[in-house]
Order: sequence, then structure tokens, then C-alpha cells
Amino acid sequence: MITNTELEYKGDLYPSKIVAFEQEGDSIFFHTDNKVILKVTVLRDSLIRFRFTTKGYFSNDFSYAIDKTQLHGYNFLEVTEEETYYQIQTSKVKAKIQKADLRTSILDLNDNVILEDELGFHWEESYEYGGNIVKMSKSSKDGECFYGLGDKATQLNLKGKRLENFATDQYAYSKDQEPLYKVVPFYIGLQNKQSYGIFFDNTFRTFFDFCHERRSVASFWAEGGEMNYYFFYGPKMQDVVTSYTDLTGKPELPPLWVLGYHQCKWSYYPENKVKEIASKFRELKIPCDAIYLDIDYMEGFRCFTWNKEYFPDPKKMVAELADDGFKTIVIIDPGIKIDKDYWVYKEALEKDYFCKRADGPYMKGKVWPGECNFPDYTNPVVREWWAGLFKELISDIGVKGVWNDMNEPAVMEVPNKTFPMDVRHVYDGNPCSHRKAHNIYGTQMARATYHGVKRFAYPKRPFVITRSAYSGAQRYTSSWTGDNVATWEHLWIANIQVQRMCISGMGFTGSDIGGFAEQPTGELYARWIQLGVFHPFCRTHSSGHHGDQEPWAFDEDVINITRKFINLRYQLLPYLYTMFWQYIEEGVPMLKPLVYYDQDDIQTHYRNDEFIFGNQILVCPILEPNSLGRRMYIPRGEWYNYWTNELAIGGREVWIDTKFDEIPVYVKAGAIIPKYPVQQYVGELEFDELTLDLYYKNGKENSVVYEDAQDGYDYKKGRYSFLSFRSIGKEKELIVQLHKEGKYETPYTKYRINFIGLPFRVKEIEIDNEIISFDRTNFDTEGSLVIDKEFNELHLIGW
Ligand code: NOJ
Repeated sequence: MITNTELEYKGDLYPSKIVAFEQEGDSIFFHTDNKVILKVTVLRDSLIRFRFTTKGYFSNDFSYAIDKTQLHGYNFLEVTEEETYYQIQTSKVKAKIQKADLRTSILDLNDNVILEDELGFHWEESYEYGGNIVKMSKSSKDGECFYGLGDKATQLNLKGKRLENFATDQYAYSKDQEPLYKVVPFYIGLQNKQSYGIFFDNTFRTFFDFCHERRSVASFWAEGGEMNYYFFYGPKMQDVVTSYTDLTGKPELPPLWVLGYHQCKWSYYPENKVKEIASKFRELKIPCDAIYLDIDYMEGFRCFTWNKEYFPDPKKMVAELADDGFKTIVIIDPGIKIDKDYWVYKEALEKDYFCKRADGPYMKGKVWPGECNFPDYTNPVVREWWAGLFKELISDIGVKGVWNDMNEPAVMEVPNKTFPMDVRHVYDGNPCSHRKAHNIYGTQMARATYHGVKRFAYPKRPFVITRSAYSGAQRYTSSWTGDNVATWEHLWIANIQVQRMCISGMGFTGSDIGGFAEQPTGELYARWIQLGVFHPFCRTHSSGHHGDQEPWAFDEDVINITRKFINLRYQLLPYLYTMFWQYIEEGVPMLKPLVYYDQDDIQTHYRNDEFIFGNQILVCPILEPNSLGRRMYIPRGEWYNYWTNELAIGGREVWIDTKFDEIPVYVKAGAIIPKYPVQQYVGELEFDELTLDLYYKNGKENSVVYEDAQDGYDYKKGRYSFLSFRSIGKEKELIVQLHKEGKYETPYTKYRINFIGLPFRVKEIEIDNEIISFDRTNFDTEGSLVIDKEFNELHLIGW
């Protein structure tokens, strides 16, 4: 590994003066005297790409991360030459490129500097590997904050830290441990109320230094490849994140059941154990939609085989589980056992699909099955072959989802835990060594898996989960945060990791609830499930080495808490699904750290624990044992305590009392929260009412509800239902306006509206300007009204 003391290095080279410049459409090229070319491409008014070469020409422009369907186009572009610099102006920003040395600054249209080069682009030639170590340094002012970078196990605000991106199987990682499983070289800077983003799209090992080495410098560098980064201008963090997510892509909707609760362990076997677990959930009335088979379901850990002793008739078992509402998800790893009698191995060998060492032999490494070879998923032909392997699992056996693990790729019993760096990869026609392909390997595996599962699950939707990922992997797969530990510190880490993944474009994620390594106490498990139900992906998983981690492994209190919170998740399914829809449509993160929610409030800049679930629910986990409450920051605005319906005024830190069976949860005043009845699994019940909890606010608030057939692709043809509610509260009045879109007819016919916090007694109710009679006693005591779903305006008039 190259250890880099970055900025001090005397062998660094710098661009010299600009000697030529030309514009070709949306791209502007600057050539320096010493053969550096900077290509600036204006993709959108607030999205500019900077690409450097030191060779005098650019190599093939190829990226796995960029989504081909990204939005393009700007309103305004003007390039001007001044005495000492060139200026590129769009309708949002100006970039100034210094003639003397290519150093760049980006300003808003009022000439406030948003981001400015310190040394700017520089590089170090690498004789050993060829190419350069490419480096960039930016000036940073006091007060600047940094966020993003995926699954880092540290505070949300990355100021003062140095971080490394190299996908690593980091069993039982600790706080601040680097690097971890995923690589998201995207960060957000926040300075003087303005947010901007940088996506350094380089798959080599990368480093980010946020004022760690020098207080006034933020820098990033890579051990190869190009200095190639995208600059996003906010000024709101919301704009930066949605535009990064648009650039690197969004997923399709998962089937609704995927947003239910998942139960996993290493490993449930044999068949009757799996069934016993499933029926215990039903017996205890704890909702659950998915059950996982870890590596022991296979024959000698050979992918795409079954251990017939443990699972004599997998198809039958999967069907029986399905009858009870359980979907079966199986693990598939990249290592293919070297075994000349194993059909997958034979096929890959015959077709020459395995990764090779530089000098020719196949890359060989130990994983669960013993010595393995590894498919080169950066070869499109191999991906196609891999996709085809899922036919039997999905079409014939009826498995509903696939879990890709160990795809950093992990190799056992070797010091670097992965492939040697000389391994060759096809890289979709850009052949390279593992130095370049390492960080993308897991994503390409998950991509191939996704295409296979999708093909055979059709017309239903696929589900894939991966451990390793690079930016853009969210187009294909969900993820989890790897092998965490059953400790209170890890609960703290999980909370931050999932928030960070959400603002890093990869929000469909969760942690192993309760911790993977070691054994949680009942209290820790309870606190973890209370947080986990508010994560986009909600699964209990454990290594199983220290005991059981099903809810009933703990005492009655914990079982009841688990049920209570999973029930709440199932009630909130339409709310969660709407969050997901906003993510796939607009790139809006499902969880919002407080700084994302209200960046202008500096109190939010260093907060870690509180987050907004969706748009209107504030959640704060309990992260310590024996807690009867905690301090938390309530963001600006008015919030109702979910448990007591008491109103709290935000913009301050407060002490909140809690019980063992509660964590602080607040609902934004004015919100309308949709709820389904509790079901033991998605689709269990037919119901005729959608519950709407309306939290009164003196003022206006919008709420939306997205629904569709809960699976399949009809939603893409307009068969969805999108409800936009506007609640307008006045002193003695409440108006609810409803606007509907989409061609999907929801199966229920009524809304049950629960009015919370009404400051008046209801005298009269009008629906679409007609007075309706209502049973006042009933309405006043229950506070709920059942009305036909076809209305445009509901009007409550008070005494
Ligand atoms: C490592 C994974 O992170 C874990 O979730 C899994 O249970 C084991 N591998 C065994 O497959």
C-alpha cells in the first residue's frame, strides 16, 4: 500500500501555465505548458465536472457509477477570458480558472466563494504502478462542516477526520475503524449557509482529509486513475444530495413486503428449524415477511446448490413458508469452489470466466468452501452468465430475494483480506488490475445478481442485498452495514451509518439489529429494534455463535417491545412506501439527519442522534443502558410527542423522559400520517379504511401518500395512486384539501381521520361544501371521522 503523507511530499508535480484553451459545446479544455489538460464539462447549471490528465490526452471515459439516464442540460453557459483567469458562468455559479496554474475557485452569482483550490490539482508519478497518485486540495474556512462518504463508523460531521475508501471485510469493526465495506467517494461541504458536494469518481483506493492534516485544508487523493470529480452546488444540502443521487442513479421500487420485518441468522437449518422460527413469529403475533438462509443451506458452500440432508425439498419448503406469508431469501457469495464435479465451477472454467493473475493462472483464494476461483463480474459476458444461474432458485424453487456477501471481495487467511493487486479485470472493455477494480467488484456482482433475479422474478419485483458497494450500486441493490457487534457503541454507530448512507445516495440500508458478533442483552436488543424499525431496511441478524437472537430469546418485556415496534412499522408501511417513492423519483433520502433538514440552524451541524424519518417524523434512539430519558435537540418548528400527543416547540435542546417501551418520536405539526392496520405480513388483510393521523397546526402543511399494487411494474404505466393533502389550520377552523393523481384504484373506500391537537370543539363539518351530520359525542371523544375517500375538501368549523 502506498502511504501518503500527502501535501508535504517534495516529488509532487503541479500544472504550469495555460497555453491554450478551446470550447466544444458544454466542455471547455485548458491546456498547460507541461501537458496537463483540464476538461471542464457543464452538465447542469449547478453540476460541473472537472477532469484532469497529465499525459496530453484523455483515456477512454468510462464509469460504472454514472447513471446513463441522469438529467442533462443547463440554461446558461458563458466563457470569458480575463487578464489572469478564465471564467465559466452558468445560471447558478461561476468557475474561475487561473491562467498561471489552473487553480480553480467556484463562486455563487453574488461573488461569495463556495469552494476554492488550495494547491489544487497536483500529482506524484508512480514508477512502480505506472500512472499517477492524483491529488486535490481545497481551502477550508473555520466553521466549515463535512458530511457523506457512505458507511463510515464515526460522527456524522467528518470535520477533522481522515478517511480511506477501500472495500474491506471488517469483521467486528470498531468506532472510527477504517476502511469499511463500502466506497462512496462523495462528500458534502457546508460553509456559510451554503452546501456544495464533491463526487470523486475514482475506483482506486481513495483518501479524504477534512482539515485533519492541516486545519484550513480539505483534500482528497487516489492511488491511481484520474483526478475526476463532479462539483454540485446547493445551496441547500437537499439540492446537493438529490443531484448526486440523480447522477449516480436511483433504484426501482421494491415490493412492499421488503419494507416489512426480516429475520436472519447464520444459519437457520435444517428445514424444520426454519419452519419452527416462522411459526413462532405467527404464534407470538410478531409481524415478519422474510426469512433468510445463510451459507449452510448449500452443499459444501457451493453456490446454487442445496444440502439435501438439511433441505430435502426446497421447493416445497419455500412454498409452505409462502403460504404463511414468508418470503425466502438465500445467500450467494462470489467464491466458486474449485471442484471439477461441480457444474458452476465447470461451466465457468470452460468459458474462462474466472479472474486471472497477471501472469496467467486463475486467482485462487480461500473462502467458506475452501479454495475458490472468482468470476470476473466486470466482464459483461460473465454478468450475463451469472444472471442466468438464478433461474432455478427463483423460477423453480420460488426464492424471492438474494443476499450477496463477501464481495469486497473477501479472502480468508491472507494479510490483505482480498485479492492480490495484480489480478486482471475486463472492466467492461477497459482492462485493468485489481487496484482499479477492487472497489467496484461487489457492485458488479450485485448488478449481475439483480439482473438475474429481476429476469426470473418478473412480473414481480426483485430483491437483492449486498455487503460491498461503490457509488451507483443503489440502482441495483439494498445493503447492510456488515459485521457489527452487540454493544451500545455499535447501536450509536448504526444510527449514524444509516443516516450517512441515506445522504450518500444509498439509503436502502439497515444494520444487523441486535449486533452480528457477540450477544446483546435484552435491553440492548429492545433499544436496537426501537431504532431499527425506523431504518429503510429492517432485519435482525446474528452470527449465532453466542445464542439466539429471535425476539423470544429475550424475556417477556422485550418480546412485547419488539412486537409493539414492529407493529408500528407495519402500520407505517404506506408512509415508508411513500418515502421510498420520493427516493426513487426525486433522490430524496429516506432518513434526514438534522443538518440536512435544517442546515441554517447551526445547532444541527454536529448533531448525530436525532433524525427525520421520511419528512415528518422525528426519531431519537435511546443509546445507553438504564435510561429513563435523554437529552435531545428538537429542530425548529412545532412537534407532537407521538406517545402523549403533547406539543413541543423546537429549536432547543430538551430533556425527554422515556420508558423502556418507548423512544422519543415526534410528528411535525400539520402532518397527515397514513397508516395501515397491523398485519402479520404484507397483504395478509383486506381492509376498507386508510387511517390518517392528522396533527393540527395553526398554518399550512402538505403531506403525500403514494400507493400502488405493492408489487409488479404497473406503476410505471401510471397505475399508482398519489394523494396530496394540504392541511390549513386556523384558530377555529381546519381545512383539508385533497388532490389525487394516478390510475390505481386503492382497494379501500374510506379514510378514518384521527384529529390530534384540535384546539377547538367541532361545531360543523362540511365535505365539498355540504354540511354533513355527524355524531358529535362520538366524534368529540374519539376524535376520528370516517369519510368516503372521494372528497376534495373537508372543512371543520369549531365553537
Ligand atoms: C459474513 C456476513 O457479513 C454475515 O452477515 C454472514 O452471516 C456470514 N458472512 C456468513 O455467511
